[in-house]
Amino acid sequence: MPKTVSGFSKFTKEEKINWLVKTYFTNNENAKQTLKKYWNSNQKLQELHDDFIENTISNYYLPYGVAPNFVINGKQYVIPMAVEESSVVAAASLVAKFWSTRGGFKANVISTTKIGQVHFMYDGDFKTLENYFSGSKSNLLKVTESITKNMRKRGGGILDIELRDKTEDLDNYYQLHVTFETKDSMGANFINSCLEAIANEFKNNDIQIVMSILSNYVPECLVRAEVSCKVEELFKENAELYAEKFDQAVKIANVEPHRAVTHNKGIMNGIDAVVIATGNDFRAVEAGCHAYAARTGKYKSLTNCEVNGDDFRFWIEIPLALGTVGGLTALHPLAKLSLELLQNPSAEELMQIVAVAGLAQNFAALRALTTTGIQHGHMKMHLSNIIKQLGANEEEQQYLLNYFSDKQVSHSAVVGAYNELKK
Ligand code: MEV
Repeated sequence: MPKTVSGFSKFTKEEKINWLVKTYFTNNENAKQTLKKYWNSNQKLQELHDDFIENTISNYYLPYGVAPNFVINGKQYVIPMAVEESSVVAAASLVAKFWSTRGGFKANVISTTKIGQVHFMYDGDFKTLENYFSGSKSNLLKVTESITKNMRKRGGGILDIELRDKTEDLDNYYQLHVTFETKDSMGANFINSCLEAIANEFKNNDIQIVMSILSNYVPECLVRAEVSCKVEELFKENAELYAEKFDQAVKIANVEPHRAVTHNKGIMNGIDAVVIATGNDFRAVEAGCHAYAARTGKYKSLTNCEVNGDDFRFWIEIPLALGTVGGLTALHPLAKLSLELLQNPSAEELMQIVAVAGLAQNFAALRALTTTGIQHGHMKMHLSNIIKQLGANEEEQQYLLNYFSDKQVSHSAVVGAYNELKK
């Protein structure tokens, strides 16, 4: 059993790798080489990445692709996506082209309010607490003035501070529920700094602050994206039947949580890929979107569909707390490039683009699922991964790609064909 290591973070990168290789890879030089293969030869760029986190020993690449031909509110976009799943960018590109000839995507931001909370315990009379809160509210705002100064100049800041009685849920539990407008920044550091200053001012002998932290549940930082067309424009054949099946697929996701989770996972394929490419926090977005999907007490679809006579309408409404300034957006050269590619959008515009990427992904998935099935396209995309895994050379790869152009792809079928070829 390996021993506990002390002072690991003080080791140089080389020392860290040597220790790992010695302890966990039985001195296997391959492990060392694999880690080093991903080092960037540009020293400055490598140092930049090293400093994002603690104990960096290598870089972990994700493919960075682009999906062209998105039309959103009449404007053309090429959407950058960082994702490892083979069919995501292809699906986005196909769907972008499809809707570009049917009026494109329409998107609008419904609200941009973010939330932070000071959670505290108080074992006393509520009226006294209320009076104390009303008496100190202006001071609570005052102590954040130096933090909020720049944000206020940009039109943001603290919108309100509310005292909330949560004692029905937990004995003695109260909170200061604080709402924020953070304009083009995601605002996590800004919100947390404000909350800590507020908590520090608010605490007294009777108030025990438990914690002060932003909420990643932002149901009032909401964006909507939509596509619509005539039913007959949707499918070349049997349009009415397929539109109905598409609609039923959304309805199923609304009543059946097992399906809803997969349905929404497909949406997040598109959303996360753009969120990562633009240097935003995909864990925050994931957590917030899934909480929103469960806001009625039952986990449901994040998209909606309506087939009304000849008219087909498909839309998404999701909470997205995103930034186009600050954080990684300014530090990571590829995040910066992604934003430039998107023509330097405001946070609101980025919310619309990301919502569209999610809607497009869900459209692609449902269209495939309710017509040919998902494996047809999926496995075709996966074919070259399987072939490469088998170690096929260029010639063999080409042969296998041709061979499977008119055949069903499965892992075992590819292995079988490869083994035959090798014979
Ligand atoms: C796969 O990553 C995503 C899908 O499963 C989504 C869905 O089922 O709607 C295809």
